[in-house]
Amino acid sequence: MENERIIPRHVAIIMDGNGRWAKQHGLERVEGHRAGAIAVKNLVESLKHTGIQYLTLYAFSTENWKRSKEEVDALMELLAEFIDANLPLLMENDVRLLVSGRIEGLPEKAREKLKDAIRKSSANTGGTVIFALNYGGRAEIADAAKKIADQVLKGEISPEQIDEKLFAQNLYLPDVPDPDLLIRTSGELRLSNFLLWELSYAEIYVTDTYWPDFDLAELDKAIDAFQKRNRRFGGR
Ligand code: IPE
Ligand code: IPE
Ligand code: MG
Repeated sequence: MENERIIPRHVAIIMDGNGRWAKQHGLERVEGHRAGAIAVKNLVESLKHTGIQYLTLYAFSTENWKRSKEEVDALMELLAEFIDANLPLLMENDVRLLVSGRIEGLPEKAREKLKDAIRKSSANTGGTVIFALNYGGRAEIADAAKKIADQVLKGEISPEQIDEKLFAQNLYLPDVPDPDLLIRTSGELRLSNFLLWELSYAEIYVTDTYWPDFDLAELDKAIDAFQKRNRRFGGR
């Protein structure tokens, strides 16, 4: 029965395959990213109907700066455009926006638009969308270690107090629960430095579908697969 489905509270997605999608259609890579942004918009628009409370989307990694300046510039421009075009949509659909990553490393224009959208959407309660931008799992762990070291230096905590709970409280978004389901599009079987701490017990679902072709029906398939998993968390 539909209402008996267990819906993952937090779904995290590695949105991969924009470049391959573009190639498949005889287009430039940037057109793949443009198509990918439309897929993001469609998902955000129907978030509240899915029952998912948190949706984290890996949009730009700390390693993605290695790409050509042309591609990086296009991605940053697209990000700013996306926020401009879709802030009304977030508001209409009661979706709150958050970001995760080294946001200070993003170009000012994108950063300002993000800050504004985060502020304006902060009271929305129909679900949370988190853009992982200039995000790296190792960077996040290193940044948490730095914050904790600082607290020790200031005498606010002692090294004995450092445990998993305190560590997690110093990650980028301490109030967001760990993902239950990780989806990767385009078939690659790796984490690519995504949420290394938070994914410890996530169920993993990989589809060959390229990100621009990922829609609600594809999300539904991933949730179906999730239903069938037996999550043991180390117990029996
Ligand atoms: C994912 O698509 C988008 C980003 C990483 C920004 P890719 O650009 O990695 O697409 P492929 O992997 O080359 O197909
Ligand atoms: C992961 O995709 C990063 C994002 C989706 C933002 P990549 O395309 O960068 O990952 P690799 O290079 O295949 O590991
Ligand atoms: Mg890729």
